[in-house]
Amino acid sequence: MSRSAPVVPARVSVAVAIALALTATACGGGGAESTPGGSGVRDPYFPKAGNGGYDVTHYDLTLAYAPDTRRLTGRATITARATQDLSAFHLDLKGLDVGKITVDGEDARWSRTGQELTVRPHDDLDEGEVFHTTVRYSGTPQTITDPDGTEEGWLPTADGALALGEPTGSMAWFPGNHHPSDKASYDLTITVPEGLRAVSNGELAGETTTGGRTTYTWHTAQPMASYVATLAIGDYDIRRSATADGLPVYVAVDPTRTEESRQVLARIPAIMKWAEDTFGPYPFSSTGAIVDRDTDAGYALETQSRPVFPGVPDTGTLVHELAHQWYGNSVTPKTWRDMWLNEGFATYAEWLWQEDHGGDSAQEIFDALYDHGEETYDDLWTFPPARPTSAAHISGSPVYQRGAMVLHKLRQTVGDTAFRALLRDWAALHRHGNADTDDFTTYVEERAPGKDFDGIWEEWLYRDGKPASD
Ligand code: TRP
Ligand code: ZN
Repeated sequence: MSRSAPVVPARVSVAVAIALALTATACGGGGAESTPGGSGVRDPYFPKAGNGGYDVTHYDLTLAYAPDTRRLTGRATITARATQDLSAFHLDLKGLDVGKITVDGEDARWSRTGQELTVRPHDDLDEGEVFHTTVRYSGTPQTITDPDGTEEGWLPTADGALALGEPTGSMAWFPGNHHPSDKASYDLTITVPEGLRAVSNGELAGETTTGGRTTYTWHTAQPMASYVATLAIGDYDIRRSATADGLPVYVAVDPTRTEESRQVLARIPAIMKWAEDTFGPYPFSSTGAIVDRDTDAGYALETQSRPVFPGVPDTGTLVHELAHQWYGNSVTPKTWRDMWLNEGFATYAEWLWQEDHGGDSAQEIFDALYDHGEETYDDLWTFPPARPTSAAHISGSPVYQRGAMVLHKLRQTVGDTAFRALLRDWAALHRHGNADTDDFTTYVEERAPGKDFDGIWEEWLYRDGKPASD
């Protein structure tokens, strides 16, 4: 089989690759000039994440993994719509070896520089055109260390592997438009040695075993940001059930954690019921959890429809990750600067759960944080929630705790009933979409025309230091 010639050798810079692509286009003749899509979407914290010039609608991933050699073999077919005339476009992919790439069935030329995979289709693409890119790849996927020092991407575990993608780890296991602003549906087919299980987002659509290998097919119909895509390969105890409304619950637990986690995981239907009463209709078509060993991941993650936990979660953490399904996964931030719209909301969900279940009230939690929160969270007053200092800070306490405090300030201003409606209607307004901080502040102001929120935005959302008054 012949391998497509890369556009330029990998050591040549992106700028040169783009210049070559432009030159090639200029000689192309015919209609309007096509240009290459951008190599990023200008995220203020991760400028190289995502790509310009197209919008992915669907990922079809066909993967095979061998835990003993840690080798992943993949074929990704990406359906996208061009948002400009394109002579070339970028995908994000970190590590792994690329084989053949086709666009609409025709061999495409490609080159790589860092995490940018530049694809030049045989024919230019027209604005509005839907096109299919197939990338064949293989290799040992990388574990990525985030700016904040935590690990994501592909994490080998005692009995398999776990893929976690916030904020940029999914480029370690499949090529794509890895930025939260481009959500898509997914089909994922994964083949593993017989005896192991493979658990992903959405619903299990098939399971077949032949020749000592088992293939699992998972389907995610609703739009999903790639940072909440997951894949857990290993030995898992599976429990399938349903909520009172008939929503499928699929729980996968590392066998060493089955007994200990039974009680807390049995609360999922009750938490879902409370969350639907509080945040509005659940945006996805199944729910559940993946519980791995404490050593397999350093943190929980709200992977879509099926959050991942490192060991047995406490109820608060379970509530937090399930609340993210509304705030984060359905209403997704436009950029990584808007993280407080995820974490502030999911943290406030924990406060509301406590208040509604006989624990401390949100006011008490707020007061304790205001009075001596820095004893527990030493970075609490080091930057404002809507302006993290750097990419290393997007998971800091100002984003979580002070972000939740912003919401509590709104509640104090509009009252309990109006506040609960604000939360619910925000989830409805941007259901399966994207939103940023400006969208939120504008929305709140429009919903409560007589009130003045300027002080809250200024002091709590944007200004450095501890706000002068609670
Ligand atoms: N979103 C996760 C949670 O709320 C935490 C997290 C994991 C995170 N990785 C991250 C937050 C990277 C910001 C950036 O449980
Ligand atoms: Zn969170």
